[in-house]
Amino acid sequence: MCPIVPIVVKKNSKQKAHTQMNNLDNIVSQFNTEGWVQRIEPLGSGHINDSYLVITHPDTAQDYVLQRINHHIFTNVPELISNILRVTNHINAKLQHQPGDFNGFEITRLIRTNEGTYYFHSQDGNYWRMYTHIRNSQSYDIVGTKNMAFEGGKAFGLFQHLASDMDASSLYEILPGFHNIAIRLATFRSIVSEDPAGRVKQAREEIAFIEARCAEMHTIVQLGEQGLIPLHVTHNDTKFNNILFNPGMKAISVVDLDTVMPGYVLFDFGDAIRTGASTGKEDEADLSRINIDLALFKAYSRGYLAMAHNFLNDTETRHLVFSAKFMTYIIGLRFLTDHLNGDHYFKTYFPGHNLQRARAQFRLLQCMEHHYAEMQEIIHAITYQKH
Ligand SMILES: Nc1ncnc2c1ncn2[C@@H]1O[C@H](COP(=O)(O)OP(=O)(O)O)[C@@H](O)[C@H]1O
Ligand SMILES: [Mg+2]
Repeated sequence: MCPIVPIVVKKNSKQKAHTQMNNLDNIVSQFNTEGWVQRIEPLGSGHINDSYLVITHPDTAQDYVLQRINHHIFTNVPELISNILRVTNHINAKLQHQPGDFNGFEITRLIRTNEGTYYFHSQDGNYWRMYTHIRNSQSYDIVGTKNMAFEGGKAFGLFQHLASDMDASSLYEILPGFHNIAIRLATFRSIVSEDPAGRVKQAREEIAFIEARCAEMHTIVQLGEQGLIPLHVTHNDTKFNNILFNPGMKAISVVDLDTVMPGYVLFDFGDAIRTGASTGKEDEADLSRINIDLALFKAYSRGYLAMAHNFLNDTETRHLVFSAKFMTYIIGLRFLTDHLNGDHYFKTYFPGHNLQRARAQFRLLQCMEHHYAEMQEIIHAITYQKH
């Protein structure tokens, strides 16, 4: 899930991790796997789930990814698994019926347990699931090149395209109100008025920043209510390291499907730009290092629109740039709210960390405001193939 780490996520202590490694064989044996398990290794740099690569013998047999689901965040595991199963089945069926049409794109499959369900509830209260491992793939934390941004845009665009004929409203809303700006602003304002941590006085400038922009931030929800943009199946965690690349640096899959639920495609596009086209880290202290990288923005947008032009309507296309501002605003708002509330939600590593994160998001948003016309022109040029 997203790099913003809720405080409820407690990584195992070394002791616990050790005990867990010993139990992994037993957990793996609960699933209906092919081949013999050769070894189990920690996998990836994700913040939310604990992931392990299960390597099987012989070498030609399918390998697997075992994940301990973070059930503090995803409290309804059956609904979570149901969403993932439905979306992966739908996409896999399409990929099978039209082999060769999608340039080697793959989507993982959930593995059934011996009991016939798709997750295992262990005696210690944890929930586990098993995916097929996408062979010869790797994820990257940083968008290194324009080509990677282009490929990333294609991958998320293709994911949305392949799921675009599903009835999104039939999926569970796994994190209710995730992007609901009215609720986020109401929570923020009530915390500002209560000032539980005594921090409001030092954050007047940031609070004013939020209030100055709040009116336009209702736009996407309003467009939805007016029926101008449809609900889609959306990924909701379009961070770069959820894209898998093959050795030739072609994007071949997207993973981290916990937050797949009904939403607006604009949320996915906006968050990919917020996280993938910024020149600074999400919590960059030196604000002068933060800017929007227009070359990466253009490359991602070209890749995305190459796949998404078939299903995007004009209103969606016209609001792509706005969606990057919106996602940057709402994440900054959530960091600031948590700071004012005494740091209860996001895990912080030093005093004032959430305020620093909020400031970094606000700077990025200002840069997007500054380059807004150029960003719109880039989308326009791609849409009409003038690039
Ligand atoms: N099915 C898979 N095939 C190959 N690699 C995977 C697969 N699922 C996850 N990974 C790798 O493991 C990492 C962490 O998994 P992810 O589902 O993104 O967990 P988190 O929610 O903790 O980010 C990914 O970034 C990717 O590198
Ligand atoms: Mg991830």
